[in-house]
Amino acid sequence: MPMKLGVARETAAGERRVALVPESLGKLTAAGLEILVEAGAGAGAAIPDQAFADAGATIVTTDALYATADVILRVHKPVGAEVSKLRSGQAVVGLLSPLLDPALMEALASAGVTAVSLDAIPRTLPRAQTMDALSSQANVGGYKAVLIAATTFGRYFPLLTTAAGTAKPANVLILGIGVAGLQAIGTARRLGAVVSAYDVRPETAEQAESLGAKFVRLKTSIDATGAGGYARELTAEERAAQQAELNEVIATQDVIITTAQVPGRKPPVLVTAAAVAGMKPGSVIVDMAASELGGNCELSKAGETVVSDTGVTIVATENLPASMPMGASQFYARNISALLLNMVKDGALHLDFEEEVTRATVITHGGAVVSEAVAKLLAPAGGHA
Ligand code: NAI
Repeated sequence: MPMKLGVARETAAGERRVALVPESLGKLTAAGLEILVEAGAGAGAAIPDQAFADAGATIVTTDALYATADVILRVHKPVGAEVSKLRSGQAVVGLLSPLLDPALMEALASAGVTAVSLDAIPRTLPRAQTMDALSSQANVGGYKAVLIAATTFGRYFPLLTTAAGTAKPANVLILGIGVAGLQAIGTARRLGAVVSAYDVRPETAEQAESLGAKFVRLKTSIDATGAGGYARELTAEERAAQQAELNEVIATQDVIITTAQVPGRKPPVLVTAAAVAGMKPGSVIVDMAASELGGNCELSKAGETVVSDTGVTIVATENLPASMPMGASQFYARNISALLLNMVKDGALHLDFEEEVTRATVITHGGAVVSEAVAKLLAPAGGHA
């Protein structure tokens, strides 16, 4: 019997993406896999059930999906009743946030579910680039953040000369030049803004400049390159020095897009309340790093848009990729298909723990948490995993 992949309908609040799109089914069916799609799974991304059926999938009810699929494909980690529907021997593949929610991994392990997480992909491995959902979704987020900033800002982004006068271009600052930041630079430049950008990893200077941004060089030079191409947390002295100089730059900006993250840590505060007060009324900040852990702007409220006492709008919409569900799902489908095809042999899931991507992304298997990083988080303080 061919292995059955089941595409789940996402039920997390605001989640409109879907794990596969009709165009992505061909490669999977060609590999001998059968595809089940939960009725309504594509609705949030404007994909009718019929389009999945036309591409070779079988549309099934929620109960039938969880009862018969060998592998459940999803975007968001399972929430609420979705968790208890998963059963022993079944695998679930998605952006499961294992490091942020180790308790869910423990629950899946004890239920005998194999959990495979796309956010654990070794991102610097060239062969894994097509599977890198963190990058594809950050790309969507960076683009959307600029569009939100542009529609929130009450003036033009480009230099505009008309019979009624000349509009000055907007000054846009991007803080954090990773995947989202680079896309934000490109998008803001295409809209005609004057773009500056800053990051604590010096190698980002050239990348920002090649996209037409001015790299902000602080007098206090900081190199906070950490492991795996990510940044490390700054020391208190570095933070203080950075803050003082950044505040001067921030005061001259109309729009700031912040994307700075440090793996496993609270996002760094780069725009303090005092810095916001130093900005012109009408300025806009879009904080892409905002979550319940905090954000890059001290005044951000995750999931909300607030206006400061001095008239600066701070947008902290969570899950920006879900607000562009068709584009985001198309890329995500490519990522999850590539990951699956890497693990499928003769039409069945074949987990080879000697292989780097499998070793990194399989979090639970055979009733146990097999990811060392997650097991460490679950170990009692001072104990050994
Ligand atoms: P991220 O979402 O973790 O962080 C975004 C940016 O914030 C990073 O560039 C980081 O340096 C910056 N940042 C952190 N603390 C900061 C601070 N205090 N001030 C200013 N900026 C700060 O990063 P993302 O976008 O997920 O990926 C970052 C890097 O990961 C890439 O640039 C690359 O080096 C590596 N990567 C490599 C890939 C590959 O080789 N194929 C693919 C994807 C990522």
